[in-house]
Amino acid sequence: MTSRPDPAPQLHDPRWRAFASDNYAGMLPEVVAALVAANGGHQPSYGDDVYTEQLRSVVRSEFGTRADVFPVFNGTAANVVSLTAMLPRWGAAIVAESAHVHNDEGGAPERVSGIKLLTVPTVDGKLTPDSIATQAYGFGDVHRAQPLAVSLTQSTELGTLYSVDEIASICEYSHRHGMLVHVDGARLWNAAEALGLSLGEFTTAAGVDVVSLGGTKIGALGAEAVVVIDPDAVSGTDYIRKLSMQLSSKMRFVSAQLLALFDGDTALQAAANANAMAARLRGHLEGTPGLTITQPTQANAVFAVLDPAVAERVLAVWKFYTWDESTGEVRWMCSFDTTAEDVDEFAAAIKAELTAG
Ligand SMILES: Cc1ncc(COP(=O)(O)O)c(C=O)c1O
Repeated sequence: MTSRPDPAPQLHDPRWRAFASDNYAGMLPEVVAALVAANGGHQPSYGDDVYTEQLRSVVRSEFGTRADVFPVFNGTAANVVSLTAMLPRWGAAIVAESAHVHNDEGGAPERVSGIKLLTVPTVDGKLTPDSIATQAYGFGDVHRAQPLAVSLTQSTELGTLYSVDEIASICEYSHRHGMLVHVDGARLWNAAEALGLSLGEFTTAAGVDVVSLGGTKIGALGAEAVVVIDPDAVSGTDYIRKLSMQLSSKMRFVSAQLLALFDGDTALQAAANANAMAARLRGHLEGTPGLTITQPTQANAVFAVLDPAVAERVLAVWKFYTWDESTGEVRWMCSFDTTAEDVDEFAAAIKAELTAG
């Protein structure tokens, strides 16, 4: 008689919740089921499997018939592979000062690919044609890294959203000046849900050339993708992915996760919960004496300034990030599995510490 292996011990308390990052959450049940369904038997490696083939067709239905998809393991890689494919050796990318690609990727664009980032200050994490213009100069000047790409984040690192018109006007300006447009879409589904639009309606239709499509934050295990909307805009993405150490040998499992997110409204529902929980948190805290909300809450993040001593006491129980030490600004992030009870308890804890202080 064959005996079943003992289940692996669970080392954490699954009831524990935090407001630190959407990466603190685990996997959506649909993603777990998709991984199990993709298991067993043999499939060709390195992307020649049926799951990746199916993903190509789903991505074309979302992003347009010319789109191609290159699954990778994480968002930093999606951004670096995208920008590397979009730029020549002498190219530079214009990005917001708050961009993840600038602040949180360990200098990977610079160190891995030698890409110069030209940063622009913003109040809300959003670029505009006018702010891009402050760095879009020196074309043809051999002394300046050539600004040949613009990278914007949707939804932004500050929890704000670009409208379709705002993205379209950035694309129009950028293309007119010979620059391609990349979207860091680590939270693209949060944006789609908040805008009430399909992914293609605010990327392909607005003129975007390349997207980093995020899966992990919305409930995948580690599945992101470079989506090349306009194949004329870039070349060699498959080679760049490989030399960037992001070509998955068992790609069926990365693709199966992304397929699960596209299936029905799995990712949109996950995003709807995360976004609604952020709105609920804001609703509880807005106007509370001693606390100032600093950004519009348009996706799944709430930003606020409060006395660091108060934040410290809340942090003893609940995890979240201090965004800016100099101002005491903190970030509270909601996930697909954040519950109304989590939000209510967390808001009550903050209010209790504010009045205790
Ligand atoms: C805006 C943005 N882009 C990209 C990423 C991807 O990061 P990672 O390489 O950790 O998957 C993140 C994750 O925090 C992010 O917030």
